[in-house]
Amino acid sequence: VVSRTIGAMSLSKIWWSSAGQKVIAGVTGVALATWLFVHAAGNLTLFGGAEVIDRYAASLKAFGPILWAARLLLLFAFVAHVSAVTRLAKRARLARGASIGPTVRRSSTLAARSMRIGGGLLLVFIVFHLGHLTFGALHPDFRPEEPSHNLLRGLASTPVAAIYVGAALLVALHLVHGLRSALFALGRAAPKKTDRRALVLTSLAVVLALAFASVPASIWLGAIQ
Ligand code: HEM
Repeated sequence: VVSRTIGAMSLSKIWWSSAGQKVIAGVTGVALATWLFVHAAGNLTLFGGAEVIDRYAASLKAFGPILWAARLLLLFAFVAHVSAVTRLAKRARLARGASIGPTVRRSSTLAARSMRIGGGLLLVFIVFHLGHLTFGALHPDFRPEEPSHNLLRGLASTPVAAIYVGAALLVALHLVHGLRSALFALGRAAPKKTDRRALVLTSLAVVLALAFASVPASIWLGAIQ
């Protein structure tokens, strides 16, 4: 019993340590980013026609409890990610303050501030987005079994299309900043602009932004009807 208690204690110590929180932030970050790519690819099925995206959505819903388990996992990854990155950012800020000294302490860098503001805006978007396209409370003419109709009708309005395009850009920026700080955490110096890994990650973020933005932009322009 004693060794099990000690084992549990050291496990919890590792979990809450900086290294443990970095692993949690990294693993959940990769999981969330992967989900975002799957989501963006799923949205692109609208270009195949209304019946293609409706069939895709119906096939996802057919998974029933498995889909709910995946949704719970997504929610858990999201909460763990936000909690780990805020904890790490707070520790880094305190460490920076301590090394600079109290007189010239800077409370946060521009990148850290934009991550916080961007992350907060994304959270507001997600709440709006779920109310709009998943639950329908914020949609003018919601049909639960017809995501194609909900998209075409819901994103035809200029302000709503602008919100979705804005979210596409914001999520990509968030990804670039997050991945840059992950690279920074793995190395000793900030990654150079020409760092090949940083270039690959930035290109992936651009692809994600284009994939997400193409759907609201095409609906708004009347290219998909
Ligand atoms: C910008 C273009 C986007 C479009 C056109 C779009 C479209 C959709 C659609 C059609 C659904 C399914 C609604 C349903 O039938 O239940 C959905 C669900 C969802 N979207 Fe998006 N989305 C976009 C961007 C985003 C972004 C940037 C995020 C996150 C940062 C996001 C997060 C979610 C979440 C969490 C769900 C619920 C997933 C689930 O029910 O399992 N979406 N989206």
